[in-house]
Amino acid sequence: MLSKHAERKNRLPLRIAHIGAGEWSRYAHGPALERLAAQSVVSLELICDLQIERARQFRDLFRYRLASDNIHASLAEARPDVIVCTVQPAATAALVKSLLPLGIPLFIEKPPGVSLAEATSLAAASIVANVPTFVAFNRRSIPSIVRLKQWAAQHAVRFARVEMLRTNRLEPDFAIATGIHVLDALRFLMGDPNSIAVTPYLRDNSAACDYSVRLVFPNSAVAEISMMLNTGLRRESYFLSAQGATAEAVLGSAYSSPLCYQGDREWSEERIVSENPLANDPQIDGGFIGEYEAFFRALAESEPSPCSLSDAARSMQLAEAVLTRYSGPLPPLPFS
Ligand SMILES: NC(=O)c1ccc[n+]([C@@H]2O[C@H](COP(=O)([O-])OP(=O)(O)OC[C@H]3O[C@@H](n4cnc5c(N)ncnc54)[C@H](O)[C@@H]3O)[C@@H](O)[C@H]2O)c1
Repeated sequence: MLSKHAERKNRLPLRIAHIGAGEWSRYAHGPALERLAAQSVVSLELICDLQIERARQFRDLFRYRLASDNIHASLAEARPDVIVCTVQPAATAALVKSLLPLGIPLFIEKPPGVSLAEATSLAAASIVANVPTFVAFNRRSIPSIVRLKQWAAQHAVRFARVEMLRTNRLEPDFAIATGIHVLDALRFLMGDPNSIAVTPYLRDNSAACDYSVRLVFPNSAVAEISMMLNTGLRRESYFLSAQGATAEAVLGSAYSSPLCYQGDREWSEERIVSENPLANDPQIDGGFIGEYEAFFRALAESEPSPCSLSDAARSMQLAEAVLTRYSGPLPPLPFS
């Protein structure tokens, strides 16, 4: 099946059908896809939203060919090579399940459903359908996180500290809807942990809470994560430490307040030995162009997706553990 998809590699632009014209798509996916269309990497055939007026405005803003409120009724006209799903998390599982049997590669916003049960069921369905899938954990394509991963490949990381600090985000499902990003990014940087310990910090009059999370990896390395929902600032930072050396990255403006340090740097002998500022291009610094390029590259080269539904289900396992305040070993998933 992969080789069938690889036949498309000499047939750029890839025809895109895009489902979900919401707020995040306006900020991230519309502009990224519009830029890739200007480079003839994609052609924007269809934007679909249940709210047809939203779809029409999105079509006009980012120059899609068609707008519709029914994806299945529009496929014959759009003839997509790739379908992009950026609907709200509660709608993702049913939509993706209806699309997998079409055999068309799927690019899917995170999280892959709203629970581990949905994520594993989607992963299993994608294996049966043998369809390439890519879950858009954009941190994996943010240049400073990519450099951190290169650093981690050259150093034996013993300890990591990650902070996800937000403001006015007292959402009961925060761990799965948003916190999943830092858990996935740690898996990307350090591999799969063996065990998790979750300490919730309950708030008065709110079903939401802050979390302190500790992950232990097979080589005994440890990661500590603070997820704090209402701090008065916004910052997302990653700190990796090895023997006598440290590397850190703080994400750009979508994820960190303007006065925070933003970029990545490496330390040794208490001095900064390497430093990279942001590109000052939100599409690059946010990883939005990079995540499409990563998926299209895998399709063109018949490589497995670097972030398939099967892989993403493992990040959901961690996120659900945080949400349910589970501490203990992390059992392997059925398809791992
Ligand atoms: N990577 C990040 O940092 C980040 C940040 C914010 C949101 N997100 C993700 O982006 C996704 C979209 O978020 P949003 O804020 O744009 O959501 P939104 O609620 O603003 O928009 C979702 C849209 O999808 C449409 N929709 C739902 N089911 C549909 C269907 N079957 N067919 C056609 N249209 C359908 C809805 O009508 C709605 O307009 C979510 O999965 C969210 O987790 C990612």
